[in-house]
Amino acid sequence: MKQRQGRGRFITLEGGEGVGKSTNLAFVKAHLEAVGLEVVSTREPGGTPLAEEIRALLLAVREEPMAELTELLLVFAGRAQHLATLIEPALARGAWVLSDRFTDATYAYQGGGRGLETRVIALLEQLVQGDLRPDLTLYLDTPLEVAEARLAGRDLDRFEREQRAFFERVRAAYLQRSREPGFRVIDAGVPLKRVQLALAAELDRFVEETVL
Ligand code: TMP
Repeated sequence: MKQRQGRGRFITLEGGEGVGKSTNLAFVKAHLEAVGLEVVSTREPGGTPLAEEIRALLLAVREEPMAELTELLLVFAGRAQHLATLIEPALARGAWVLSDRFTDATYAYQGGGRGLETRVIALLEQLVQGDLRPDLTLYLDTPLEVAEARLAGRDLDRFEREQRAFFERVRAAYLQRSREPGFRVIDAGVPLKRVQLALAAELDRFVEETVL
């Protein structure tokens, strides 16, 4: 069993709706644990009891429309809580943190989807996170048709009810993020086995570079 001294690493998993994120999150966690790492898996919006309450506010379908800025501030309010009470303490004690979504989702949904300025998101990112950024981001990419087929028949939340054009902008914004350091695009429009082979290859490379 390999033991790593010092601070843990922060890995995030991103993707559009219905892309198979939950199944692949469990795979990533198991893959890292198999090399002896302690992995704390969490999600955004949410991850702590208070941040989960904020998640419920964000996803609830209600008559009153939510202003875009309210949505953005709620996302970052939840993130501040998540960082202070779960992510930072876990990293500090040497655990690896695996989060189902993080700030790349804000650039994609509130930036790309809602059209809020990147500059404003970056300001809040700096305020809430300081210098903390994910060490590795795995973005599961699929054409919209694949995701739409997987969502059919589900009870849809406030985001899932958006129009196709919204999700096209979300995807385009995610793909733009691929220029960021540590951001990897994984083709998730192929059979699960192949998606997981690609994930395993990225993880093995990352672990080798950072731990071994
Ligand atoms: P989920 O689909 O991963 O459960 O996430 C719930 C929704 O939250 C999803 O539609 C994307 C949205 N979201 C944002 O709009 N901004 C964010 O920063 C995050 C983390 C999620």
